Amino acid sequence: MKKLVDVKGLCVDYITFDGRVRAVNDVSFHIGQGEILGLAGESGCGKSTVAFSLMRLHRPPALISEGEILFDGKDVLEMDDEELCDYRWKGASMVFQSAMNCLNPVKTIEYQFRDIFEAHNMVKSKQEAIEKAKSLLRIVDIPEERLFDYPHQFSGGMRQRVVIAMALALNPKLLIMDEPTTALDVVVQREILQKVYELKEQFGFSILFITHDLSLMVEFCDRIGIMYSGQLVELAPSKQILDIPHHPYAQGLGGSFPTLIGELQEMKGIPGTPLDLSNVPDGCRFAPRCTAVQDKCRKVEPKLFQLNDKRWAACHFPVNLTHAEQAIDAVVLED
Ligand SMILES: Nc1ncnc2c1ncn2[C@@H]1O[C@H](COP(=O)(O)OP(=O)(O)OP(=O)(O)O)[C@@H](O)[C@H]1O
Ligand SMILES: [Mg+2]
Repeated sequence: MKKLVDVKGLCVDYITFDGRVRAVNDVSFHIGQGEILGLAGESGCGKSTVAFSLMRLHRPPALISEGEILFDGKDVLEMDDEELCDYRWKGASMVFQSAMNCLNPVKTIEYQFRDIFEAHNMVKSKQEAIEKAKSLLRIVDIPEERLFDYPHQFSGGMRQRVVIAMALALNPKLLIMDEPTTALDVVVQREILQKVYELKEQFGFSILFITHDLSLMVEFCDRIGIMYSGQLVELAPSKQILDIPHHPYAQGLGGSFPTLIGELQEMKGIPGTPLDLSNVPDGCRFAPRCTAVQDKCRKVEPKLFQLNDKRWAACHFPVNLTHAEQAIDAVVLED
């Protein structure tokens, strides 16, 4: 699968009165063309910060201090204003975490669609913009006559669908969805994601999907990355990450939510609290909460390494390894 996005060693700092807080530390991953990659992890672990970096939307006090973000082979961090304008919406577009509040409350939906088309010189007349906007509304199952309504005249789920339609307005190659369906009931949530999936199949774009709902993520994504304290600690095909986790944190996450089928199991949760990013200890950031912690974990920071062609983990003592993976792990441990 050809890489559409290739993130290498991304570091993002927030400059605060108490100094620099590294919210994203040395994060590397790729998203293939047409692939859905999920990002999961506790609140505050840096998921939205990564998403904002991909769009290059950070403003002070945030600073991308290291790394490279290649989109179709072009470095997003090196783009000038003109290239960036072209990249946003056409290359990558984003449905924000608070998508429902993204719409301008005093402008009609029609005005807001038209604004996008005109800003990118995509239409020659107002009528053309209206026709394009209507067809986008039809795609997300909203009657086209609603185009002239104000955001408050829509239900929450409809507003969310309008935002998704806007994100698709310029046929992006990458759609970033940061908790797009949070605050919606499960039926509407499923309808929306089903729709997005159908559109992805139709248009072939890639998706970066961020959510706290792990079961939804497993169902919707091809691969999932698990973040902890600003770092990517595991990356695996979605069907494997909860059943055969390699990182103790991914294992803990898997034990923290109930399954609807199978035997009744006691949920275990993960002891302790997330790390204070302004005071990061030596070694592995998960060590204070890890049930399998060893001396080395408190001294040496584990790097994300590749265990096979589909799996990466950042742990000195990964669990559930196959024989082949154990052999690779042994080499890494010696280094
Ligand atoms: N403007 C800011 N100034 C200082 N720190 C910030 C700022 N914005 C975010 N942070 C910090 O960066 C870290 C990562 O935040 P981010 O919003 O990326 O987390 P998240 O994983 O998306 O969380 P959630 O699941 O709650 O949306 C957090 O510790 C947060 O406190
Ligand atoms: Mg977030």
